[in-house]
Amino acid sequence: MSEVRGKVAVVTGAGSGIGREIAFELARRGARLAVSDVDETGLAATADRLEALGAQVRSARLDVSDRQAVESYAASVAADFGVVHQVYNNAGIAAGGAVADNDWETYERVLGVNLFGVIHGSKAFLPHLIASGDGHVVNVSSLNGIMGQPRSTAYCASKFGVRGFTESLRAEMLMAGRPVQVTVVHPGGVRTNIASAGLEDARKRGEVTPEDEARVRTYNEKLLKMPPRQAARIIVDGVEAGKQRVLVGNDAKLVDLLVRLLPRRYPALAAQFERRRFSRG
Ligand SMILES: NC(=O)c1ccc[n+]([C@@H]2O[C@H](COP(=O)([O-])OP(=O)(O)OC[C@H]3O[C@@H](n4cnc5c(N)ncnc54)[C@H](O)[C@@H]3O)[C@@H](O)[C@H]2O)c1
Repeated sequence: MSEVRGKVAVVTGAGSGIGREIAFELARRGARLAVSDVDETGLAATADRLEALGAQVRSARLDVSDRQAVESYAASVAADFGVVHQVYNNAGIAAGGAVADNDWETYERVLGVNLFGVIHGSKAFLPHLIASGDGHVVNVSSLNGIMGQPRSTAYCASKFGVRGFTESLRAEMLMAGRPVQVTVVHPGGVRTNIASAGLEDARKRGEVTPEDEARVRTYNEKLLKMPPRQAARIIVDGVEAGKQRVLVGNDAKLVDLLVRLLPRRYPALAAQFERRRFSRG
């Protein structure tokens, strides 16, 4: 029987992609779910499917970058279910652009969602996870939390930050003997809407260049390959197995190896990869 049967799991960014599929996977394994997203339409579709799968579901709009909103959300989820066992801090956004071209707002926005969203969710739910006696924090980083990449500085900074925060939190829980496991997830390319959503967002700001469009096309056609359901299964299996670190896909595993084996050479390789993969024409 699944370890998560009957447990209460919180999933942020559950209106699409990996978060939605994590919620479905948990529901199939018998968990009770609190799902949230800023996209209410996507979230409603997720909640409908979760109910069809027979799960007990609590669904709410939540912007993970809003600290107070996350704090009151955590209190209300704990009050509604009486206990919280697992939190999957999954919500995230993509943004490209070179340092010279990015404005300050891009850094604040990306770090606000991808890094502070994870810190907010971890910290706000931590007392409830400890109180459950069997808690688990699962923070979604990226392959870009292992390897720096040109024209991805905001995203890489946020995802390296998630990894640092999560590994420190794990050591704290061990040091204090708290009953909370801590997992960091590093997905490689997963076939979701993340690149297109980032491009759409940039378009609204009038910041899209033909290079950006070509880059997102390459991501969608060549790099974001794994079906999100498969990614979710790998993640939830890893959590059930008590893994501290879950690498999702051969690309993430390869990057992990490359950075360890060639720590000084990898930036030149990353530059070469960028030139080859994303040069136009
Ligand atoms: N798809 C990939 O290849 C890939 C690779 C590595 C890491 N990741 C990470 O996986 C996570 C999930 O991404 P995905 O690929 O499923 O993308 P996605 O765009 O399909 O889903 C992300 C969800 O997060 C929501 N979201 C965005 N901003 C939010 C906010 N402020 N508050 C709450 N929700 C918000 C979106 O509405 C969307 O429903 C992200 O953290 C992403 O960085 C994805």
